[in-house]
Amino acid sequence: MTTRCLVTGAGGQVGLDLIRVLRARGFDVHGSDIAPRPGPAQLDDDVPWHSLDVTDADAVESLFSKVRPHRVFHLAAILSARGEEVPQRTYHVNQTGTVNVLETCRKLEVERVIFTSTIAVFGPGLPELVPDDVPLQPTTMYGVTKVAGEMLGDYYWRRFGLDFRAVRFPGLISASLPGGGTSDYALFMYTDGVRLGHYEAFCRADTRIPLMYMPDGIRALVELSEAPRGSLRRSTYNIAAFSPTAEQIAASVSTAIPGVKITFAPDAHRQAILDSWPRVLDDDNARQDWGWQPEFTLDQMTEALVPKIRALIEQNPELFERDH
Ligand SMILES: NC(=O)c1ccc[n+]([C@@H]2O[C@H](COP(=O)([O-])OP(=O)(O)OC[C@H]3O[C@@H](n4cnc5c(N)ncnc54)[C@H](O)[C@@H]3O)[C@@H](O)[C@H]2O)c1
Repeated sequence: MTTRCLVTGAGGQVGLDLIRVLRARGFDVHGSDIAPRPGPAQLDDDVPWHSLDVTDADAVESLFSKVRPHRVFHLAAILSARGEEVPQRTYHVNQTGTVNVLETCRKLEVERVIFTSTIAVFGPGLPELVPDDVPLQPTTMYGVTKVAGEMLGDYYWRRFGLDFRAVRFPGLISASLPGGGTSDYALFMYTDGVRLGHYEAFCRADTRIPLMYMPDGIRALVELSEAPRGSLRRSTYNIAAFSPTAEQIAASVSTAIPGVKITFAPDAHRQAILDSWPRVLDDDNARQDWGWQPEFTLDQMTEALVPKIRALIEQNPELFERDH
């Protein structure tokens, strides 16, 4: 029998790439989002699409009862920077939404739930190399709700046997519109570099956070979802790829976009969030338990990303325009 997957928040940066990879692996994939169905350039016509607001418990239960997924990839969330604009809404979507999804999956005996956590669960005062288990003291509502999501998922696993698995993503970079995260400066170096030949980053040059090229992030989700449960010693795993300073990203960008001018004008609020995040993640547990390994280095990502961004901008010159 074909494994059926349901993705929440499927119209976002991660969801659209995840759907493509899951389908390529032969899964029957259903997308859902509060936002309308993406156009055919982003999503194949034959992917079933459902309108779903995860804060509506009845709607979650009704859709999941209809689709009857074996695996749920719960991505719906409001990200860190956007999340601080209306923290109350962020709480509702990220926290109530996650409880609704877990509760429905428990009731319907869904086989597996895969959750996307983040480095924003961490807070100030971290060691240079940050392992899975350190005190979690997030400074954003996004981080607070993701800590709660990790803990709720772990509770549902221990209390009800719901097979919950999560990765803590670093800042993810891909040739698509980012969802309002605080790591977006990295992508903007590429997109504004191609569009305009210059970019003024909202962080200091020495800012250093863990980053990852999207294909590695998607592969991590899929590999974790397929790992035998018996090999998993925990529910939530750090995963890492590379941790360049903002200045090192700028240097890498300039190898692919000669003459690009990248400057730094830190925004106090966003810099404070960045400074509270890990500089380097220790992902030893993921490597040991389910064989996690990143493929892309920063320079390999740059090489792959720049032609993709160029092609997208050629097709749609307004795509990466924004007011900040
Ligand atoms: N992109 C990153 O760098 C990054 C890093 C760490 C973790 N993550 C996590 O990965 C997941 C996906 O992130 P993304 O980058 O695709 O974000 P995104 O903002 O691009 O996508 C999130 C999607 O959730 C949808 N959504 C918002 N409110 C909803 C609601 N009430 N009901 C249903 N859907 C709703 C949005 O319409 C959007 O399509 C999130 O859980 C995020 O926290 C992302």
